[in-house]
Amino acid sequence: MPELPVGRVLRTPADQPDPAVVTEAGAVLRAGGLVAIPTETVYGLGCNALDPGAVQRVFDAKQRPASDPLIVHVDGIAMVSRVTGEPLPTVAATLAEAFWPGPLTLVVPRGAEVPDAVTSGLADVGIRCPSHPVAAAIITAADRPIAAPSANRFGRISPTSADHVIAELGDRCNLVIDAGRTLHGVESTVVAIRDDTAVVLRHGAVTVEALQRHVAVAVPERADATTAAVSPGHDARHYSPATPSVAATAGAARAAGSQQPDGRSVVWLGYTDRQPALPTTWRFEPLGALTDLDAVAHDLYDTLRRLDADAPDLLVVELTDAAGLGRAIDDRLTRAASSRVASTGEELSSAIAAAMGPFT
Ligand code: TXA
Ligand code: MG
Repeated sequence: MPELPVGRVLRTPADQPDPAVVTEAGAVLRAGGLVAIPTETVYGLGCNALDPGAVQRVFDAKQRPASDPLIVHVDGIAMVSRVTGEPLPTVAATLAEAFWPGPLTLVVPRGAEVPDAVTSGLADVGIRCPSHPVAAAIITAADRPIAAPSANRFGRISPTSADHVIAELGDRCNLVIDAGRTLHGVESTVVAIRDDTAVVLRHGAVTVEALQRHVAVAVPERADATTAAVSPGHDARHYSPATPSVAATAGAARAAGSQQPDGRSVVWLGYTDRQPALPTTWRFEPLGALTDLDAVAHDLYDTLRRLDADAPDLLVVELTDAAGLGRAIDDRLTRAASSRVASTGEELSSAIAAAMGPFT
């Protein structure tokens, strides 16, 4: 590969992609480089999906284990045939028709041209067609499918602005395309197709309720062994702040007021329309209102990053316990808390003790 410079940043409006920026991004991708690309969900670290060397550089930059497959991005249904071996299964075609371009990833049989590293050796490949005008234009300019994981170091919080990308990977990408903040703020929904059913492998910006309007949907339990097998790279700890964190259900939130605080600083992330009574030394920070989960998702990672940077002794993240987009939000909050979830006051005390040592 010719030497490409690193750390360049180019700006474009999100709704009207700057042709010069798009052309440059396409050229860097064709040359085997890494380009951080805005999508409607989160920023992705893009590379030519059909170039094994470029794919390896993405894994290296993120320090991502080889067992965690990448999503391949296309600019329309015509490009799908370069990634799959056969036409989309009927259920996948129905979902593509309903939700593409948009935040839905379909896991379907992969084609021979796709390098092993992209799918971690699996027989299936995850494909999505992003709706972000800049992402779509860059894929078209590159004229090939683009593999792109979220543009963060492995296990950390996904980036919803170019500043987030630059902070974590700025010195590891050839180009960062800055189009401002992303729309949804949580990743795409990932579904595998099993016979006539869409199996949800990861909750995301397309809700289960929306999928159910088109096809039969199965939602395996998180702890289910089969889920672990078909949904690699989905660890109990992910999307993680550096600050010790605990997740609390609404039940645990109701009992928060009777926790015994010591001198350590605790920040509670909750909802303005369900604000719990807290020990006086604990600080409440809003994730938004339960009546507007779109806004909660939009700001979620930005809020987590901001509070993590304050470095309190502990973050308590309150779960929405809601359906719809609430499932994706709760999934991310649970993993941010390394799956330490408290449902009662007692569980909250012991989860806090497990996260940061007992109150003294
Ligand atoms: O919204 C998104 O999906 C963003 C943007 C950039 O498109 N991308 C993203 O990629 O979140 P990443 O790498 O952070 O998450 C990809 C996840 C994997 O960890 C895995 O759970 C699932 O998608 N996945 C990808 N390919 C798969 C496959 N062949 N089989 C099963 N799961 C797969
Ligand atoms: Mg990710």
